[in-house]
Amino acid sequence: MNAPVSPSAETLRAALAALLDGLPPRRAAQAVDRLIATYRGATPTDSPILRDRADVAAYAAYRMPATYAAVRAALEAFARTVPGWAPNRHLDVGGGTGAAIWAVGATWPGPREVTVLDWAEPALAVGREIAEAAPALRDTRWQRARIGAGLSLDAADLVTVSYVLNELTAADRGTLVDTVAGAAQTVVIVEPGTPDGYARIIEARDRLIGAGFRIAAPCPHSAACPIVPGTDWCHFSARVSRSSLHRQIKGGSLAYEDEKFSYVAATRLPAAPAPARVVRKPQIRKGQVLLDLCETEPGLRRTTVTKRHGDLYRAARDTDWGDAWPPAPEEETS
Ligand SMILES: C[S@@+](CC[C@H](N)C(=O)[O-])C[C@H]1O[C@@H](n2cnc3c(N)ncnc32)[C@H](O)[C@@H]1O
Repeated sequence: MNAPVSPSAETLRAALAALLDGLPPRRAAQAVDRLIATYRGATPTDSPILRDRADVAAYAAYRMPATYAAVRAALEAFARTVPGWAPNRHLDVGGGTGAAIWAVGATWPGPREVTVLDWAEPALAVGREIAEAAPALRDTRWQRARIGAGLSLDAADLVTVSYVLNELTAADRGTLVDTVAGAAQTVVIVEPGTPDGYARIIEARDRLIGAGFRIAAPCPHSAACPIVPGTDWCHFSARVSRSSLHRQIKGGSLAYEDEKFSYVAATRLPAAPAPARVVRKPQIRKGQVLLDLCETEPGLRRTTVTKRHGDLYRAARDTDWGDAWPPAPEEETS
């Protein structure tokens, strides 16, 4: 008997490749080029950017593996703060073709009630089509909804808002975060890992704390972010394999690219945030590893772990940007 098909990165990749079947490669590349240009231009817009099936199929094939990887990394960091917990009801707001529901399914396998809200009907339709590839996602409800003053949300254990704040006016961003705070037990928001993306995350983080949430990840605390505004931005990186469509659009032969993202996971659950988090790519030198940490006592600090630290040094060599530090006991290398 075959193993059940899980909502993994590989299943998603295969489903996205199938989606492009029959769409001439040049047509797909043109659609992606046009959409990238639109996204670089003035958003928010008054109407959906994703207009038809070809647009959505091309854009999903191009972007969904990256947004999936970013959300997956954010959820993984959150999951480590609430061992044994899994959401029963997941709501994905501005979910488009559903990258976040795939990431939730991969982080917490098992059945749950899933709803995706978006104002772009073609995105919802393609999302439903892609989700057919993963049995756990087939009962997902794909609902048309406009984010704005009139938005009302059913209660959910987990609400995800992935790469959406960027497309909203400042007023709608505030309304959305407040509405989500009123409906969710846990909120995970992901944005591009740019200074502006980080600023939107901090604004949402402040609102969620104001609404009584505590921050579970990436921050080790719920106090103010220690980064002095304008000097730096907290972001992380997720490695994504490139598809043939990527290679066609971007050229070159690199087999992967790194998706930079910023995120916040806030919860009303009794979560145990990491004691510290690695906030830059670790620098590995001869006999030592330099780690830039954000720590529980709010502050940023560089620590040097040397060979003399034994097991901790070996653990530091295996530690990645975005990981908790020190690693939890079961993660330590033996
Ligand atoms: C960049 S896509 C991200 C999609 C998905 N969450 C992901 O991570 O791949 C932004 C999504 O937000 C939706 N969106 C933007 N503004 C919206 C609004 N005012 N109401 C509802 N959906 C909106 C778009 O239709 C689109 O599907």
